[in-house]
Amino acid sequence: MHRKPTPLLQSLRFRLIASVVTIEIVMLSLLVWNNISIIHTTHTDRLRDTATSMIQQIARTSGTYMVAVDYATLEDYLGNIIDYQELSYLVVLDRDEHSVIELGAFPSEPWPVSEDHPAQVTDGIFDISEDITVAGQPMGSVLMGFSLSLMDEAIRKSRIRGISIAAVEILLTVIVTVLIGLGLTRRLGVLAAAAQEVGKGDYSIKIPIETADEVGRTASAFNRMVTEVSNRTQQLEEAESRSRTLLAENRNLVHTSLHVQEEERKHLARELHDELGQCITAIQADAESIRDLSRDHDKRIEASASAILGVSSRIYEVVHAMMQRLRPGILDDLGLVEALQEEISAWQERNPDVNCAFKTSGDVADLGERTSITIYRIVQECLTNVAKYAKASQLAIDLSTNSDSLVLRIRDDGRGMDLPVTGSGLGLIGMRERTEGLGGEFMLESKKGAGVAISVTIPMNGREQEIT
Ligand SMILES: Nc1ncnc2c1ncn2[C@@H]1O[C@H](COP(=O)(O)OP(=O)(O)OP(=O)(O)O)[C@@H](O)[C@H]1O
Ligand SMILES: [Mg+2]
Repeated sequence: MHRKPTPLLQSLRFRLIASVVTIEIVMLSLLVWNNISIIHTTHTDRLRDTATSMIQQIARTSGTYMVAVDYATLEDYLGNIIDYQELSYLVVLDRDEHSVIELGAFPSEPWPVSEDHPAQVTDGIFDISEDITVAGQPMGSVLMGFSLSLMDEAIRKSRIRGISIAAVEILLTVIVTVLIGLGLTRRLGVLAAAAQEVGKGDYSIKIPIETADEVGRTASAFNRMVTEVSNRTQQLEEAESRSRTLLAENRNLVHTSLHVQEEERKHLARELHDELGQCITAIQADAESIRDLSRDHDKRIEASASAILGVSSRIYEVVHAMMQRLRPGILDDLGLVEALQEEISAWQERNPDVNCAFKTSGDVADLGERTSITIYRIVQECLTNVAKYAKASQLAIDLSTNSDSLVLRIRDDGRGMDLPVTGSGLGLIGMRERTEGLGGEFMLESKKGAGVAISVTIPMNGREQEIT
């Protein structure tokens, strides 16, 4: 199955993995940042508390020795304390601020200003001082400096540990997310590809069901749906093919009946001409002889013979008109254009309110019989419709040919009609069927109040076939 790759930013796989990893990184960073600040606070608070309690203890003890001016014992005592790892220096000042004991890496004068909290320290040493008083009398003060390096080292180690744990967690999350994402999107990809194939009309596709989870259930629902669609499509195709066959059969039937109708009309016209026409002519001849023979003998017989002559002439006119309607002889004798001209002028006489213009252009002589009769019948039906429905004032009929086709255009400016036409009339249907029977194209344009335009195009090759 060939698929167009989805652009990276639009792929579900990328968006799933990217969003989970981003959320994970943000959350872990917040957590690490929070832990580090807690660790920092805890360590600095511990150092401040330790330093405060140590200096208070030392100030109390130092007071006793200072009263006794026993600086040697005091120094011994403080010598043990200076071993405390974080303690950087320890200085004891007397009440005149002269140093009496200096231990560790003590600073030079002026003595550093006492700080409240290790967090405020800028030089790496937390300086702290405490007054020495005995019985309310100031005896001096103790200055102590605590190095922050040990604490900083501890904080740094905790930070590294926190960041390492977070990094491992992020890595594991990425791996797990990628694995789940790839697995999920691979299966969704199979679904998408199958849907695409179905979209192209391949209903034989079946998605393998790997597990019974949501994707598995979707896949089995998809398979059921495809089977259903396939069945329905097959039924539709069968119905469509049956309809096509029926339509084709109907068309055949219509064409055949139009042909049979035309043949029957031709036959009737011939019968009327050959049989009835001959009889009427014989009656007329006999009536004429009777009239001539009885002229000088019996006026009543002469009058009757004249009456028979009049009636038979009337019958002949009616029969002649019927013959013309059934099969205009002029169509066979003088061709389509003459026949149309005669039909149109007869129609114009009956419909003097409509101004009908008939024009031809190109070579419209020598059309085959079927083409001629088709055009003739279409014009005849249009004239009837215009007289019956259009209430038109103008009617234009154009017949033309070009190298490819024969074109008939009929346009009136009457009431028109809304399309499609509904009703039981057969005129327009007959026009279309006759045209299509010759491989041509029939077009009808109309709107209520905008007249009707009909265009019939019969291809030259159809015409030629028909002529031959
Ligand atoms: N030139 C026109 N102007 C206005 N309406 C028309 C025109 N030609 C046809 N129609 C409308 O179209 C309908 C169908 O015409 P069609 O010729 O197919 O059937 P019909 O004339 O009613 O019956 P039939 O032709 O079978 O005797 C007509 O009933 C009429 O309403
Ligand atoms: Mg009609």
